[in-house]
Amino acid sequence: MIPKTIRLSKSIVGSTEKDAIACVIDDSYLGMGSFVHEFEERLKKYLEAKHVICINSGTAALHLALMSAGLKQGDEVLVQSLTYISSFQAITAAGLKPVPCEVIPEICTIDLRDAGKRITNRTKAIMPVHYASRVGNLDEIYEFAREYHLRVIEDAAHAFGTIYKGRKVGSFGDIVCFSFDGIKNITSGEGGAVITSDDAVAQFVKDARLLGVHKDTEKRYEGQRSWEFDVTHQGYRYHMSNLFAAVGIVQLNRFEKEFKPKRQMIAKRYHEALSGIRGIILFPDDYDEIVPHIFPIRVLNGKRDGLRQYLLDNSIECGIHYYPNHLLTYYGARKGELPVTERIYSELLTLPIHPDLTLEEQDYVIEKVKTFLSADYAD
Ligand SMILES: Cc1ncc(COP(=O)(O)O)c(C=O)c1O
Repeated sequence: MIPKTIRLSKSIVGSTEKDAIACVIDDSYLGMGSFVHEFEERLKKYLEAKHVICINSGTAALHLALMSAGLKQGDEVLVQSLTYISSFQAITAAGLKPVPCEVIPEICTIDLRDAGKRITNRTKAIMPVHYASRVGNLDEIYEFAREYHLRVIEDAAHAFGTIYKGRKVGSFGDIVCFSFDGIKNITSGEGGAVITSDDAVAQFVKDARLLGVHKDTEKRYEGQRSWEFDVTHQGYRYHMSNLFAAVGIVQLNRFEKEFKPKRQMIAKRYHEALSGIRGIILFPDDYDEIVPHIFPIRVLNGKRDGLRQYLLDNSIECGIHYYPNHLLTYYGARKGELPVTERIYSELLTLPIHPDLTLEEQDYVIEKVKTFLSADYAD
């Protein structure tokens, strides 16, 4: 039986989220107030973090994190080219220069050997992107940052819930940014958060999300607002609304028992069913530690686009994460500059994963991948 279109990803929301939104509407205060405060407190507890500041998107979280890090206009930020456009746009929005780096092919996180060759006296930060929820060797990244005196802004948009050496991503490190957009490991509709133990960074981000108004956050959490205030730096309307936070609180409650085990189980099933098949390379089988936001595979021998079309023809959505940023006009369109990234990009294909995917749907995806890769189709 061919099912209806199998979604690549999906917002998993239902009656509990509806009730939470109704609560905010009954409360008649949709802006940033007690629900945002509660979401931040719960995230703090879950992540065992000192400061959590909720923002209205992951991109805005990265933007403010970069602005808060004490960098100067034109300073350079090392970042893998193979990432969502958000990482690059946040860097340029903060007046900084992204320096595209290669990735380690097996896990698609930043290749420090390559990054090391790109250090100049303007290099002031590194943005490791936790691609497909893997953090790579984060200890080495922090050592590298210490050696070159760099701030570390982790783009952890994919990695909510991932454990690294026994610790949750966000519970340690310099500045960590999550995304809670509609399809992430938890969603608040749209949203994001900056996590840090640096008091100065936290205060800067809190003020900057409210147009730079000094200590407005503290007032809003008491149901008040500032009328006479000072502003000392550029700010934005980047705060989270109570509506979004109410959804986020419900999603966080559902995460450990529902979303996390389901995502891990689906990834393990894919891994088991597809390992050993000729013509593809799988990412590592580390699904007890990571909470996979996406499930990319590498399709060899120039067969990626063929498999993609075949899956689409069979009502299976698939994705390509990501078109390398150094190939974009705004970032120089320098084809040939990062050969590893360009090769890996041409192989990447993302298969459906979300907590609503049924086993029957997943078996159908697996069967179609195997059929295509069998000699009849692949040659
Ligand atoms: C790697 C990466 N960074 C940053 C973001 C930005 O998050 P948001 O969509 O919440 O702005 C995303 C979102 O898809 C992402 O995948």
